[in-house]
Amino acid sequence: MTSADVFDGYIDRGWRFLAELQRSLDMEFVVGRREGPYIWNLEDTRRVLECGNSGGVHSLGHRNPEVLKTVQDALQVFDAGMWTMPTAEALAFQDIVAASAPTPAICRSVLTLSATDSIDLAVMFSFRVTGRRKALAYRYGYHGHSGFAAMVTGSDAEGLLEHYLLPTEYSAFFPEYGVLDAIERSLDEDCAAIILEPMNYETFQPAAPGFLEGVAEICRRRGALLIIDETRTGLGRSGKLWMTSHYSVEPDILILGKGLGAGLYPVSALVATKRVYDACMNSTHWGFMSSMAGSPIGALVATKVVEIAQRPATLANIARLESDLTDAFAELCTRYQDVFAPAWVTGGIAALGLRDAAAAKVVKRELFRRNVLCHSASEIAPWVVKFFPCLTADATVGPAIAEALADFAEAWRRGAVDLG
Ligand SMILES: Cc1ncc(COP(=O)(O)O)c(C=O)c1O
Repeated sequence: MTSADVFDGYIDRGWRFLAELQRSLDMEFVVGRREGPYIWNLEDTRRVLECGNSGGVHSLGHRNPEVLKTVQDALQVFDAGMWTMPTAEALAFQDIVAASAPTPAICRSVLTLSATDSIDLAVMFSFRVTGRRKALAYRYGYHGHSGFAAMVTGSDAEGLLEHYLLPTEYSAFFPEYGVLDAIERSLDEDCAAIILEPMNYETFQPAAPGFLEGVAEICRRRGALLIIDETRTGLGRSGKLWMTSHYSVEPDILILGKGLGAGLYPVSALVATKRVYDACMNSTHWGFMSSMAGSPIGALVATKVVEIAQRPATLANIARLESDLTDAFAELCTRYQDVFAPAWVTGGIAALGLRDAAAAKVVKRELFRRNVLCHSASEIAPWVVKFFPCLTADATVGPAIAEALADFAEAWRRGAVDLG
C-alpha cells in the first residue's frame, strides 16, 4: 500500500475529515519509520523533523530505547487486566510521583489509560469533594473528547459540546486566560473546580506570575478545587519536571498524560492530595476501576518516564534547547522584522510571533514542505507558530527549525507563499 492508497482509503471508508484536511494542507504523509526526533514516510523517501510531538506524547523521542526496553521486559513477565490485584509496580509509581510532585501535599495517584480518562475522573472527584456539580474551564482550552473532559473543552475548533448535544449544566467557561476578574465573574456557587493548564492552550503563553496563585486563592475562598492539567506541560516540557513548580501554587489535583507512556504504552495519571484521594477512593468500595488501567506494565512505563524526565542530564538538555531556540528566534525577529515578532520560549515550549494573520493560516504547511513538523499555529491572536520539539533533541534541532523558518520568511517576502 502506498501513502496515496492509505489517504484514498481513509476518504472512502475511514476518517474522511482528517485525510481531506491533510491533503488540502499538502501534508499527505503516512508515517513509516520513526526514531528519536524524526519520522519518515511510508515509502522511506522523506524524513521530517518532529516538532509537534502530538502535544508531548513523544517528548522523549520516538521509540525511546530505555522506555522500549522497559515495555519489552515488562511483557516478558506481566500482562494487563487483573485490576483487583494490588501490585508493587503501581505502588512504586505512587511513590516516585509523590516524591517529585510540585508540592508535598500532592501525594496520591490513580493510573488511567488516557488524560481524557484522568480529567473525566478529576471532575467527578471535585463533585464528590465539594458536593457541587460544575467545572469552570478556559474558553479556548482543550481537555479531551469524551465524558466530562469533553464537557470542559471550550475550543471552537476541537470542542464537541454542540456536536454531541452534551449537557451544558456541568461546565462553564472563562473567556480570557490570565485575567482573574474574568474567572471571578464566571464562577458561581455551583462550581466544584477550576481546571486549566499552566499555559494558554492556544498561544502557548505561560501563565503570568501571580495568575495561577490568584486562581488558587479564588478556589480556596470560593470552596472550589484547583485542577491543573499538566498533560502537555509536565514531564520536563517547561524546563522543570512540572510547569506548576514555576509558580507558588498548591493544586488539589494534577493531571499527567501524553508523554507518560512515551508513545509506547497507554498510561496517564491523576495525582491528588491525600484529602481528595481518600474522600473519593477510600470512602466507598470502588471509587474508580478499569480493567486495563493500573497494570504493572503501565506502572513500570510511567515510573521509567518520570525517572528519565527528572534526570539532571535530561533537564540540562532541555535548558540547552530553550537557549538555542531563544537565540534562534531572537535572530529571526531581527532579520525578518516584517514577518516575525518576539513571543516566548519556556523549556521545550516554543512560540514565535507572526506579524500577519494570513501567515498563521499557512505556516504549518510551509514548514512541513521544508520537512519540519511544527505543533500548530494559534487560531486566536496573538498569532504565533508553535513548536514542541523532543526534549532529548541534540544541538542540530534548533538550527534546523531556524533554517526552515528563515526559508519561509524569504518566500513570504518574495510573495511566493501560496495563501490558499
Ligand atoms: C491539555 C490536554 N489535556 C488533555 C488531553 C487529552 O489527552 P488524551 O487525548 O491523551 O486523552 C489533551 C490532548 O491533546 C490535552 O492537550
